[in-house]
Amino acid sequence: MRFLSLFFITLFISLSLSAKEGMWIPLLLNKNIAEMQAMGFKLNANDVYDVNNASLKDAIVLFGTGCTGELISPNGLLITNHHCAFSDIQSHSSLDRNILKDGYWAMSPDEELVTPGQKVTFLVRIEDVTHKVLSGTSDLKSIAEIKRKVAANIDSITSNYEKEDFQDVSIKPFFQENQYFLFVTETFKDVRLVGAPPSSIGKFGKDTDNWMWPRHTGDFSMYRIYANKNNEPAEYAPDNVPYQPKHFLPIDISGIEENDFTMVFGYPGTTMSYLYSAEVDMTMHQRDPNRISIRDIKLYILDKAMKASEEDFIKYAAKYATTSNAWKKWQGEIKGLERLNAVETKKEEEKEFMNWVQSDADRAAKYGNLFSGFDALYTQIEPLQNAYDYYVECIYRGGDLFPIYRTLKSKRQRQNVESTISFIQETFDDYNKTIDGEVTLALLKKYYNDVPDQYLPQSLIDLMKHKKADKKLEKLYQKSILSDREALIKSINDTSGKQFEKKVAKDQLFELFGAIEQAYYANVSAAFAPLRNKKDSIYKLYMAALLEQNEHNIYPDANLTLRVAYGNVKGYEAKDAVYYHYSSTLDGIIEKVATGTYDYTMPEKLRELYYKKDFGDYANADGTMPVCFIASNHTTGGNSGSPVIDADGNLIGINFDRCWEGTMSDIMFDPAKCRNIALDMRYMLFLIDKFAGAGYLIDEMELVKQ
Ligand code: ARG
Ligand code: GLU
Repeated sequence: MRFLSLFFITLFISLSLSAKEGMWIPLLLNKNIAEMQAMGFKLNANDVYDVNNASLKDAIVLFGTGCTGELISPNGLLITNHHCAFSDIQSHSSLDRNILKDGYWAMSPDEELVTPGQKVTFLVRIEDVTHKVLSGTSDLKSIAEIKRKVAANIDSITSNYEKEDFQDVSIKPFFQENQYFLFVTETFKDVRLVGAPPSSIGKFGKDTDNWMWPRHTGDFSMYRIYANKNNEPAEYAPDNVPYQPKHFLPIDISGIEENDFTMVFGYPGTTMSYLYSAEVDMTMHQRDPNRISIRDIKLYILDKAMKASEEDFIKYAAKYATTSNAWKKWQGEIKGLERLNAVETKKEEEKEFMNWVQSDADRAAKYGNLFSGFDALYTQIEPLQNAYDYYVECIYRGGDLFPIYRTLKSKRQRQNVESTISFIQETFDDYNKTIDGEVTLALLKKYYNDVPDQYLPQSLIDLMKHKKADKKLEKLYQKSILSDREALIKSINDTSGKQFEKKVAKDQLFELFGAIEQAYYANVSAAFAPLRNKKDSIYKLYMAALLEQNEHNIYPDANLTLRVAYGNVKGYEAKDAVYYHYSSTLDGIIEKVATGTYDYTMPEKLRELYYKKDFGDYANADGTMPVCFIASNHTTGGNSGSPVIDADGNLIGINFDRCWEGTMSDIMFDPAKCRNIALDMRYMLFLIDKFAGAGYLIDEMELVKQ
């Protein structure tokens, strides 16, 4: 368990072994397995992770760069979330064939859609390489020297590591660089889209329901992994063959009951479970509110435009979803942290921690100054963090054209004609000048209004102070060559660079972006970087102390490596007098649609199936059709698409979200309220079979009924 203050212990005391904080490294599961078994798990640590024999881990992939997927057939069939496939689905959509809207199912292998750029990564092996990575660093004094030595060690370990040609090796830091693990992986790049439900199912409830329970989203999609004739990773080729995994997950359709054991096995991206109180304070009172208020502006403009045109809806669907997703989570996070009185709770924990430090002279010498170091630092960091967040949200991730500016400003990149042009094409495929103009200018204004002048370039200040600032800005955007696909491509195709110098480099928007970026580097980044390094080194020491205090029985923050979380199927008390049941059914979809709310619609065919009760073998014992369920696993972004596995190692759900009252779990986990949301596999099978008529896919799977 984490270092717990008395305050926390009293908070947790009523809880049984049913909610468990933590995302654990599969290699070290021996430490957890007894508790997992006490909670109902029937397998051993080796069944979960084994290097020499097939184990559950062989059925799990990192899907793309930020989701999880799992194998469900001996022929490379893979499932993940609908929202993880969203960009692929969008890129295969057009007004003529809008599969975002209508869904898609390949009725035979040759109808599977090739999705260039998509990839899945299997984990082959993990090794603890801490000693090797840190060797020769103990005598080094400066952080810079240590960093250089560590980087050199990592370089030599990875390049000398014995592996197959088609494998990759990487080393990642854990526990704030107190520990290092090596990962051998295999990445498959020929993954084809097999099917996805229509958005009215796969994204049912849209942003109204996102991060919420009760939930009724059919958030899944299906792919097939292809390999070369030797079952090894290969680039796309028409004659590649379906990949045969070492293990795939059987699907249990017997039904789910409260308190059933669950395990989520996947790739959580980022957690911050060991933050110092000042960082929690800054997050909930400065960072989250800033980012929310900036995204408010963007979302308002996009929403208006997308409702007005189906074409623009397709173009901006993925951008809107990404922008709104974190925007909503931050709101839940603030609420949850407030409810947990997070800053005070952290301070309590820190007080206890310091008592432990001071109770031993050696410890006091090593760790006694940790917090005074933090306190001094955070006072300096806050204004810079503010400017940084504004820069990232208003400029860097603001409109569509800043990334084009960044690509084109580099001569080396410009000379890479093919990739630059394909980047320009991709950007403009999902671009509308009027919409992006409005977004870009609104965010530029927000940036100017809210960020102190000392961080801004004079040219932006002069422009904004001008009597006709609005008009000038409008003109500057509308006339810019950055918003002109053909002209940009022409200038890049001219490899002499003359066109670029003449047109792009003199463009006013290009210049403005350049000035803003430069001012950011000179006035924000330059001052922030050394403070961050300092912060990292204090956190490293803090983490070392926490490991010592807890005898290493704590979990490392998520870092997009494979982890195990475990818990039980469980409802929760959401607020006074409201207790949430652990599962939802198709009845709830009918109820929500009946409210007439914009985000709740359902295909006619689904309605018919509902009225006919044509649920096949997939219904609950009482005849209702299950849709989603919740459980007490500790999950985060990146766990999307992760399998929810039962006591026997079979698949019962696909993780896709967290409940509103628990969205602060990246920073502070509350076992009473933190729940992950999963799609019930029976709903997926019902949709494939009865709704899509693609039952031939189910024949490939292994269904278990007990
Ligand atoms: N909240 C879930 C996650 O973090 C689902 C996101 C799907 N996107 C959306 N805007 N509904 O990824
Ligand atoms: N929807 C999230 C994802 O894309 C998972 C939900 C969460 O953040 O817990 O990974």
